[in-house]
Order: sequence, then C-alpha cells, then structure tokens
Amino acid sequence: MAEYAVLNTGASMPLVGLGTASDGALPLEQRKAAISAAIEVGYRHFDTAKVYNSEGLLGEALKEAMEAGSVKREDLFVTSKLWCTDAYPEGVLPALRNSLSALQLDYLDLYLIHWPIRLKEGAVLKPKPDELMALDLQGTWRALEACVKQGLVRAIGVSNFSSKKIMELLEFAEILPAVNQVEMHPKWQQRLLRETCKKANVHVSAWSPLGAPLMSWGTPEILNNPIIKDIALNHSKAPAQVVLRWGLDNGVSVIPKSFNKKRMVENLDVFGWHLTDKDHQSISGIEQKKNIDGSFLCSLVSGPYRTLEDLWDGEF
Ligand code: A2P
Repeated sequence: MAEYAVLNTGASMPLVGLGTASDGALPLEQRKAAISAAIEVGYRHFDTAKVYNSEGLLGEALKEAMEAGSVKREDLFVTSKLWCTDAYPEGVLPALRNSLSALQLDYLDLYLIHWPIRLKEGAVLKPKPDELMALDLQGTWRALEACVKQGLVRAIGVSNFSSKKIMELLEFAEILPAVNQVEMHPKWQQRLLRETCKKANVHVSAWSPLGAPLMSWGTPEILNNPIIKDIALNHSKAPAQVVLRWGLDNGVSVIPKSFNKKRMVENLDVFGWHLTDKDHQSISGIEQKKNIDGSFLCSLVSGPYRTLEDLWDGEF
C-alpha cells in the first residue's frame, strides 16, 4: 500500500508527517529530543511554521541526524508556512530565507500561505481589528512562484483555504498549489472541500487529525467517541490509529503532533489495513464541530472578513 502521496509536482510526500506546533508547555530541549526520536522511529515528513517557533529545533534535529548519517536530505519532506505578517509580495522571499536559515536547509519541500489574510507587522496570534488586512493573493502567489523558480522551495500551497478561495487562486496560478492544509478529523470532515481539491488536483493535508485531544484549543471527544472506540476494538487498533486511518482512507495525508515516542510509533503504524464501508458510514454520522474556527481573524469593525461565513465562504 502506498505510504506516499504524489503531489501535482510529481514529488512524493509521506502520508504521515509529524506536526511540531506546541502550546509551549514542553521545554524546547525536550521538543528537540522528541523530533530526534521521531527521525529514529521512521518519520521523514515534518511540518513546521514560523509561528510555531519550532523551525530552529527541527533544523537542529534534522542537521544532527543528517550529520550522523541516519537520514539524507532527499529522503526528508519538510513543510513550513508563511506567517500572515509576511503575507505580501515583498514579504515572501525574506520570510522564506528566514525559515530556511532557522531550519538550516537550502530548500523546503513545501511552503504554504498559512491563512488567507495579511496581518500588520507586529500582530500576534490574536490580532486587533486594525491589524487585519486583505491578502493580495495574486501578488503573494507570484512571489511564491518566484521562490520555486529560484530553487528555494520545491512546491507551494495554501492552508486554511475554502473551496472558493482555492478556485480563485486557480484562476491565475502559473504554478498550481500542490497542497491545501486544513483542519480535518472525524468531527470536521471537510467533504465539500475534499471534493473541490480532488477535482483541482490539489492534495489535502489534515492538521490536527486527532482533534488535538490534550491541547487547550482541541477536544478529547474524538479519541473518546464511542463509535471510534468501538471500531478500534473491532480492528484491535488504538482510537488514534482509527482516526488517522480514516483520514488516509479518504485520500488525505495526516500530520499528527506527538512529543511522546510511544504515541509517535503508534501514529506511524497505520498502514496495511483499512476501515470497512460500515466503519466509514458510522464515522460519517459523527456530529460536526470545528476546533479552530478562525474567529480571531474576523471583525465587524475592519479587515477582510466580517464573519466566519466570509472567512470560510459558507463552508462552516
Ligand atoms: P503527546 O505529545 O503527549 O503525544 P493533533 O495532532 O490532533 O493536534 O493532536 C496532538 C495531541 O494529541 C498532542 O497533545 C498529543 O500528545 C496527543 N496525541 C498524539 N498522538 C496520540 C495518540 N496516538 N493517542 C493519544 N493522544 C495522542
């Protein structure tokens, strides 16, 4: 069974990657050690972003592993993301160079526009209304395309884009978006978006594929859901493996976060079996609720999105 997704660039992306965002509870050294452990147990796909504050420690862990000869650059797939304060045409190249420098890499495998919005310089995760700005999507995309042409990044894409925003981008993209990385798990199944992306040959990647059970922004309800627990029991798998397999069966890649070696191994061990049609049917009945709705990017006072309806173009 394929353990890679083939992107519209022709590149292979491992279907399970390690997410590296954190709520900051774990000290940096321990996070770095966890990433080294992930390399050791077989992870080759790593997902970071400027705003996660994990590019530096991921870079160190990758460099050490490459120097020790345990992994080669060409076997790795590294994704990072353009933060919203840099999401304007002239901001792209310097931001990418900073990410590459923190990661100690010559190129990224994938670089994504993190959210469909620009934020004023200095804005933090909960921006003030006057810090919310419209994204110049075409200009920013052109700058990303130039980064591909310079060899600084092998593929470009987006994150948290609705079907409508993907279609807008496709109208002018000279280099197609390879990936749309979005929140997706059994409580937020993204059926319409997956259809749109499939037709457009844009691969969907699931962030928070377990629903972030231990995080302040997430919910333990997915791994504790009786339907999921039942299916897990029937297949002699852990609930997390069922949830990840559900994503893979639906054609998406998954990037679960874990800083615990046992759970990292568990999350990677999701190949060689499938959920049944009946399992899929049961999961499709789970009540839907998005964890991160993006309301911190909406304002009735100013900015491009007054409501969640505007931000997600009805897909909410
Ligand atoms: P930990 O780092 O202690 O393993 P998501 O990827 O959906 O955002 O979820 C990440 C959260 O899920 C982390 O808090 C992580 O904790 C926890 N987690 C990761 N893998 C598993 C697993 N296999 N079973 C239970 N919890 C998990």
